[in-house]
Amino acid sequence: MCGIVGYIGSQQAPPIILDGLKRLEYRGYDSAGICTIFADCADIRRSEGKLANLVDLVGLIPIFGEIGIGHTRWATHGKPTEINAHPHQAGPIVLVHNGIIENYIPLKSSLREIGHTFKSETDTEVIAHLIEQRMKDGAGFEEAVRQTLLQLKGAYALCIVCESEPDTMIAAKHGSPLVVGIGDGEYFVASDIPAILAQTREMVFLEDREIAVFRRDGVAFSTITGEVLSKATRHIDWSPLMAEKGGFRHFMLKEIFEQPRAVQDTMAGRLLEEEGNVYLEDLGLTDAEMAGFSRICIVACGTSWHAGLVGKFLLEELCRISVEVDIASEFRYRNPVVSSGTLLLAISQSGETADTLAAVREAHGKGAKAIAICNVVDSSIAREADGVVYTHAGLEIGVASTKAFVTQLVAISLFALRFGRATGAISRERGIELTSSLLHLPAFIEEALQLDTAVESIARRYHNSSDFLYLGRGYSYPIALEGALKLKEISYIHAEGYPAGEMKHGPIALIDENMPVVMLVLRDRHYEKVVSNMEEVIARGGRVIALCSAGDSETAQKAEAVLELPSCAEIVAPIILSIPLQLLAYHVSVLKGNDVDQPRNLAKSVTVE
Ligand code: F6R
Repeated sequence: MCGIVGYIGSQQAPPIILDGLKRLEYRGYDSAGICTIFADCADIRRSEGKLANLVDLVGLIPIFGEIGIGHTRWATHGKPTEINAHPHQAGPIVLVHNGIIENYIPLKSSLREIGHTFKSETDTEVIAHLIEQRMKDGAGFEEAVRQTLLQLKGAYALCIVCESEPDTMIAAKHGSPLVVGIGDGEYFVASDIPAILAQTREMVFLEDREIAVFRRDGVAFSTITGEVLSKATRHIDWSPLMAEKGGFRHFMLKEIFEQPRAVQDTMAGRLLEEEGNVYLEDLGLTDAEMAGFSRICIVACGTSWHAGLVGKFLLEELCRISVEVDIASEFRYRNPVVSSGTLLLAISQSGETADTLAAVREAHGKGAKAIAICNVVDSSIAREADGVVYTHAGLEIGVASTKAFVTQLVAISLFALRFGRATGAISRERGIELTSSLLHLPAFIEEALQLDTAVESIARRYHNSSDFLYLGRGYSYPIALEGALKLKEISYIHAEGYPAGEMKHGPIALIDENMPVVMLVLRDRHYEKVVSNMEEVIARGGRVIALCSAGDSETAQKAEAVLELPSCAEIVAPIILSIPLQLLAYHVSVLKGNDVDQPRNLAKSVTVE
């Protein structure tokens, strides 16, 4: 999730671009860059780290020009170094990109065969070379861009300039957001409204497979195949604060609603549908190595530990390998039984959690290999592990994890599929079934998000309760834990998650007519047992809020409040269940007037013991 900005007009571009990037820094901040076209030459400045470093660099070695592009990066392919920072140049072409090009490896190979050399490890640089090649073959700038876009698979928002056409800028969108700002004789391009709201409030929203060609005398919109479009301009009257959150009231809500896109990014370029397999670019394990492990140990903290518990369920079910899940702070001091036959799986959004990092070191010290599932590219855990599966969730600002958790679940599913195919535990046919279920996931999440209003009214009904119980079985059990944790974190209401079958061994004593019990009752292998647990709660006066499968009238009749979820395959069910639970915690927190995005006592990255 990077941020891009472009400008063409009669003002100096650099201050406008740097100001825009500042407002997009929430989209990523591991490196940044800017390019202007001045006297028919591209002038580029790039720097590693936060945008402030680029601002200092431009202060030291200024650049000028009335046309320019800029980028703030959240690394996906390639480490967060200066060499991988955007803009990328190939011949006369300079561009910035947000998104993931899924077929960049074969494209890069064919470009290498005809003599192109690459400076960075990014997928983006391939696009610049493709356009350059088309121009060498005789196409003009615009035509070369169109031909290139038709070759790309994946997601992109692009802003492109060209030394040999110094009065033209091209923007294109597919899958990643892009907005065009219309000024008085000047145009702006950005990943998001806030970046350019200080310049203009008249905006045009590009749709997928559309491009905008800016010249000094106007802008022309068309599809990438050349069909001319007339696009409506919208007046945006957001306040600056609303703009920063993309029109949402809180970052957490924005991030909850970003999840269909986030899971698409986790899967982008990785699902090999026809082979029923998965490609994990940085896994660092051969099939033979995977077949050699007798056991997997998952270590993580907090929400990531809950993702690990779902991982146990998936790996044991699909790969028939024994899996243990440990809280990292326990694992590191327990002298755990780990050897070269054990694979350690460390799950961490930040990649910096001290206990999880220490658990990786502990496992390495005992001769085990460690694979990380991380969101932050090149973070400490990602670097120290022997391989990594990045979740590509983009920057998460809300302290309570939402999209990072859901993308961890997707990354674990991808890992399980890859592992099971490597060891032979998953057949090609089963693999095809599983990849197809994963492909349907974004649509299911969209459907689950439509429950928002219903969840809000449930929150209104129950937000004054002092305790909540969350119950689920099988893969729903970790989701019950996660639902309870979310509520605790941001509403400060006491909440417990429990395996539903365990209720009768203690927690049942808590149930009375004041206790809301969130029951996860999907129609799966545990359905009848969970319905019985629900009856036990009702018999003791408990107030059941049921999350059930669409059309489950039996559950709907018994529960006090009901949320019906789309029927889906088991591999994606934990994800679908998570969505209304995130929304429930969110709405309760808002109703209680709490600081949703920065709850008391919590930090986003826990780098101390
Ligand atoms: C809860 C939450 C925390 C983190 C935990 C581990 O919403 O965000 O429980 O999951 O601190 O952090 P990472 O995943 O960065 O290792």
